[in-house]
Amino acid sequence: MAVVQVSQVVKEYRDRGSAPVVALRGVDLTVEAGEFMALAGPSGSGKTTLLNLIGALDTPSQGRVSIDGRDLAGLSPVQLADLRRDRIGFVFQSYNLVPVLTAAENAEYVLQLRGVPKAERRKAVAEVFAALGIGELMDARPPQMSGGQQQRVAVARAIVAAPAVVLADEPTANLDQASGRALIERMHRLNHERGITFVFSTHDPMVLEQAERVVNLVDGQIASDVRKGAA
Ligand SMILES: Nc1ncnc2c1ncn2[C@@H]1O[C@H](COP(=O)(O)OP(=O)(O)O)[C@@H](O)[C@H]1O
Ligand SMILES: [Mg+2]
Repeated sequence: MAVVQVSQVVKEYRDRGSAPVVALRGVDLTVEAGEFMALAGPSGSGKTTLLNLIGALDTPSQGRVSIDGRDLAGLSPVQLADLRRDRIGFVFQSYNLVPVLTAAENAEYVLQLRGVPKAERRKAVAEVFAALGIGELMDARPPQMSGGQQQRVAVARAIVAAPAVVLADEPTANLDQASGRALIERMHRLNHERGITFVFSTHDPMVLEQAERVVNLVDGQIASDVRKGAA
């Protein structure tokens, strides 16, 4: 089943006092459950815009975005908030962890919002931290951690509530080469072993190499869409 369906999407930004910018010009994209997909393209090509639309953080000017077969345009603000909480995991370039909370508290917040009891939350978080190789960091706070460690916590936070898709906007952009590689390899393993669907943007060739499908955006349009042969 298609987790993400983007049909004929146009996104135009109209900011007061400046000329309108067309960031996406008719994008069609289907992402199936279990994909490990990279969104490539130069800076300004529309990667962040597309991820924001898929993640229901913004709305298209034209066209349709569906998650789990549900057209986002048909959902109320409350339904959209529920969908973001329950079906979508986000990983941002700058980690976006809450500095005063421990790593485990950061990761369990979504489960708390869903009313999952404390002991069960801890168990789920511990399990996901172990899978990401950060089991010893449960009680550390983000300012004490390296960028690579913080981004692993961000991935743990994104996957702990078992979303339909994890959207990661240039997750390795602030990491050194080794930490970036380690992060993407962990993500790939989670995809492979647990079937977690990842869509991540990047312009790093090392990250693209790990992807099983590369969709290349150029000037707001899909210029190529390449699936690697089964390994
Ligand atoms: N909030 C915004 N207001 C106006 N223009 C924007 C906004 N966000 C992005 N853009 C423009 O839309 C285009 C695509 O941007 P973006 O999606 O951020 O690309 P990428 O993530 O590939 O670098 C660029 O021309 C950018 O300047
Ligand atoms: Mg971007």
